[in-house]
Amino acid sequence: MWDTLIRRAHLLTFDTGSPYGSIRRGALAVQGGRIAWVGPDDELPANSAREEIDAGGALVTPGLIDCHTHLVHAGQRAREFERRLAGSTYEEIARAGGGIRATVAATRAADEEALLAASLPRLRALAAEGVTTVEVKSGYGLNLETELRMLRVARRMGHLAGVMVRTSFLGAHAVPEEFAGRADAYLDFLIAEVLLAAVREGLIDAVDAYCEPIAFSPAQVTRLFGAARKLGLPVKLHADQRSDQGGAALVASFGGLSADHLEYASPEGISALARSGTAAVLLPGAFLFLQETHLPPIGGLRRAGVPLAVATDCNPGTSPLCSILGAVALACTLFRLTPAEALAGVTRNAAAALGLADRGRLEAGLRADLALWAVEEPAELAFRLGPNPLLRRFVAGRSDHAPSD
Ligand code: NIG
Ligand code: FE
Repeated sequence: MWDTLIRRAHLLTFDTGSPYGSIRRGALAVQGGRIAWVGPDDELPANSAREEIDAGGALVTPGLIDCHTHLVHAGQRAREFERRLAGSTYEEIARAGGGIRATVAATRAADEEALLAASLPRLRALAAEGVTTVEVKSGYGLNLETELRMLRVARRMGHLAGVMVRTSFLGAHAVPEEFAGRADAYLDFLIAEVLLAAVREGLIDAVDAYCEPIAFSPAQVTRLFGAARKLGLPVKLHADQRSDQGGAALVASFGGLSADHLEYASPEGISALARSGTAAVLLPGAFLFLQETHLPPIGGLRRAGVPLAVATDCNPGTSPLCSILGAVALACTLFRLTPAEALAGVTRNAAAALGLADRGRLEAGLRADLALWAVEEPAELAFRLGPNPLLRRFVAGRSDHAPSD
């Protein structure tokens, strides 16, 4: 006896056989929070279910995964956007004390409840678009107390919004004011105190860093990653976003989960990612709002067989994008991904970017994280900005409804 059986569904399995792994008239059974059976409706084995859902031809995808976000933060930086539109660069604003440091000031000033209240609506907005797993980074605290507070809030809001939250430690996001000009001393403090305290509290799933001239050098990132690997933590990197720092090859050399951004990644970086099985995370929201014109090397990544993931990078500076379907649409229009690639980027390959083997596809044995959609064609999910076609979500087999219901 199954818990739930969905029939007459257009399943997008994202197995590797065809672009979407589409099964036009499909059925999917759920048992104990896992997918128990998936296949064509007319091959369904004789078995009964406590609840049967006639999908009426609706599209069913794996629950969507946003594998790169900075959802937890306080304050906003819309005036920096005005300054950039008037000609200032992101780097100029950061060097003048704005940018990440401005959000650090606002986040340090917010207590845990205020931070939760500011951040939870962003997570709920993603959940309303079918997201069931989200990665959330720290990195706007840059001191012991606030980094831990961000990570605790990230975990708490996952429970409140019905989303599985994976946390990445991004203490190496910027050098805080109190360590100005002493990046190495900050890194010592970060490794010896903040990282260890967060690990002791069980708050970290991976370690991330920002490798750019305005942030940390490859040598400094190497030091941090060495400490992370000693603690048994996987690594990922904001790599080659504004300039080629050799970031892709660096994170690959640590067997990293993902290299993110990659606008300026070199051919050597791409080969290194392919060899290490590191996913590329493409962030078209940051590309759009920074009015970047240098495209990430999509063709090279594709030819090398690097898994392409897509994420919102939701943050208050470079990517005020809190829509996973928006990220999918932008990945197609700005980066020329096919809709099938972009949707695989927020399912199968986003799971790979987080090192999660139990989700991101519709396959027997995997978590029953599902999204049901009122669309006729898969590409419709990549071809709208605004209207939300989600009918309902299942998280580990349990259904909730879109907030509009
Ligand atoms: O992913 N590049 C570094 N981190 C963020 C931006 C952070 C900010 O400006 O607040 C990003 O683009
Ligand atoms: Fe980011």
